[in-house]
Amino acid sequence: MSLPTVVVTRRLPRKVWNHLTAYARVVCWEADGPVSRGWLLDHIAEADGLYCLLTDQVDQEVLQVGKRLRVISTMSVGYDHIDIQACTTRGIPVGHTPGILTETTADLAFALLMAAARRIVEGADYVRQGKWKEWSPDLLLGQDLCGATLGIVGFGRIGQAMARRAQGFNMKVLAVRSPAQVSNSPGSLTSEGMSSQEQVRPLLEYVDLQAALAQSDFVSLHVPLTSRTHHLIGAPEFQLMKPSSVLVNTARGAIVDTEALYQALHRGTIAGAALDVTDPEPLPASHSLLTLPNCLVIPHLGSASVATRARMAFMAVENLLAGLRGDMLSHCANPEVYAAR
Ligand code: GLV
Repeated sequence: MSLPTVVVTRRLPRKVWNHLTAYARVVCWEADGPVSRGWLLDHIAEADGLYCLLTDQVDQEVLQVGKRLRVISTMSVGYDHIDIQACTTRGIPVGHTPGILTETTADLAFALLMAAARRIVEGADYVRQGKWKEWSPDLLLGQDLCGATLGIVGFGRIGQAMARRAQGFNMKVLAVRSPAQVSNSPGSLTSEGMSSQEQVRPLLEYVDLQAALAQSDFVSLHVPLTSRTHHLIGAPEFQLMKPSSVLVNTARGAIVDTEALYQALHRGTIAGAALDVTDPEPLPASHSLLTLPNCLVIPHLGSASVATRARMAFMAVENLLAGLRGDMLSHCANPEVYAAR
């Protein structure tokens, strides 16, 4: 029996490659950087499965050409780069990698929060630029975390992991549940819908988005990018925030209106931003955001630890192989695809 063909849009770790090639004929984009659109369209027609990354747009055109596709698997928890509805209509299950990157991403979000609060990058630049001549009582003063309030917008796995970190630092947490609750009225502390492991108890209150923005010293975004969360944070939302507040985004760039963010930082509507994700992404070095000393930007590193990236690649391949076998994917972004079968 001939092996199914899979298109893979980035070189895989050796172990993962060996596992996949035992079951499939692999056509892999071998060059550095994201796959070219032309190459993807040239090869997708012969593919039974697609292994992709968050940088690859899997839209109607790709699906149209990829008529043989039986499964798509992305090495990311987010799947806003894939037209999920079109996949469901065509009966194609889409795999993704939730759970295994939760702690790694929350670590990064909290690191950004701390870096912004204590001006770590500004301090490092100061030393490198040879400006450190003396100790000074008012040099690069930042904000305390202890006793401060953190608004967490989106209280799924990563939002809850962020809350656990914040509570370890004696911060108060205002949680906005994700994403339907974004406009809900405030509620009281409840463990409804959470496993006992996920429960975060002390100093946590559920509020609506407006209250979280108005009362928080730090606001961290943890909602997926959808049509409802696109530009969730724009000029009116920045107006609600405290002038001393800091925005942290490790979710998706387009959840924030970039021009409104630039204006808010430039005019001092808010004190700072620490971004792992941007819109556009990658952010060009000439972008206006990078002219602002109160804006810290890093290149989408949320899940970027050696162990987590290896686990993600492995899980993505497992999803892919399950789809090729006709089994249900263990981590499926569109489980409704099975109801239609
Ligand atoms: C990273 O942003 C992911 O979605 O995995």
